[in-house]
Amino acid sequence: MKPYVIAFANQKGGVGKTTSAVNIASIIAEMGKKVVLLDCDPQGNSTSGLGQNKKKLRESMYDALTDGLGPDKCVVQTRYDNLWLVPATMALAGAEIELADASGREKRLRDFVEKLDGYDIAIIDCPPSLGMLTVNGLTAADGVVIPMQCEYYALEGLTQLMISIKKVKQLYNPDLTITGILITMHNGRLNLSSQVLSEIKKYYSDKLFSTVIPRNVTLSEAPGYGEPINHYDRHSKGAAAYREVAEELLKRCPV
Ligand SMILES: Nc1ncnc2c1ncn2[C@@H]1O[C@H](COP(=O)(O)OP(=O)(O)OP(=O)(O)O)[C@@H](O)[C@H]1O
Ligand SMILES: [Mg+2]
Repeated sequence: MKPYVIAFANQKGGVGKTTSAVNIASIIAEMGKKVVLLDCDPQGNSTSGLGQNKKKLRESMYDALTDGLGPDKCVVQTRYDNLWLVPATMALAGAEIELADASGREKRLRDFVEKLDGYDIAIIDCPPSLGMLTVNGLTAADGVVIPMQCEYYALEGLTQLMISIKKVKQLYNPDLTITGILITMHNGRLNLSSQVLSEIKKYYSDKLFSTVIPRNVTLSEAPGYGEPINHYDRHSKGAAAYREVAEELLKRCPV
């Protein structure tokens, strides 16, 4: 049976999509669920964040989207129990162009996830754009998590993203829901952060996760070692915050 699928999306770059996708996937796997992380970003940050050597990879997300290769070929086991990955390499940048006039181009990832069997949850790490790869992510997803930073332009970006989500919902994926908005890299001592946070609460209080991810240097070190935070430093503040978010997330999803 198809797993429950959550896309981590925000067209804004560097807001914590990958950090959130990798760490939440790993923590949910540690809780005993079978999780597959789908790296949909040509930067392949989720892939290296899980310690995979991109040079040694063979089949990847590129083959899944362009050639329709199935999970039996594209899913790789990670070194962590209950956690699998469909890796991404730079080749995926080509998929964006190759799919531009291909038939059923928005639904390629959806076709792939429908073939996934034996997993409880699939987590998609989207790239920082609203292009074909993100559209594929949103079309394949049951829910979207929107990681965002409390900064001046965040709300403008959020409005744009909500419009795109609405469009994808109308055109390709009527059942898509917003699972939640996750504040990342928060610095409570900054006035601006508190102001933006209260602004977000004004408009989206029902969607906001009650846990806020603090700025925590351990979270930025972990990918350099190819380890998710619960393995790199399970006692860090970052690990504790992502454990709380993972619990909130599971309460919001039928997993
Ligand atoms: N809570 C945090 N505290 C400190 N550093 C963080 C935190 N979250 C993320 N970072 C760092 O911020 C940078 C951007 O994070 P990340 O790569 O997760 O964002 P992204 O949205 O996936 O970026 P892109 O849009 O390029 O895919 C990375 O260097 C990451 O290690
Ligand atoms: Mg990323």
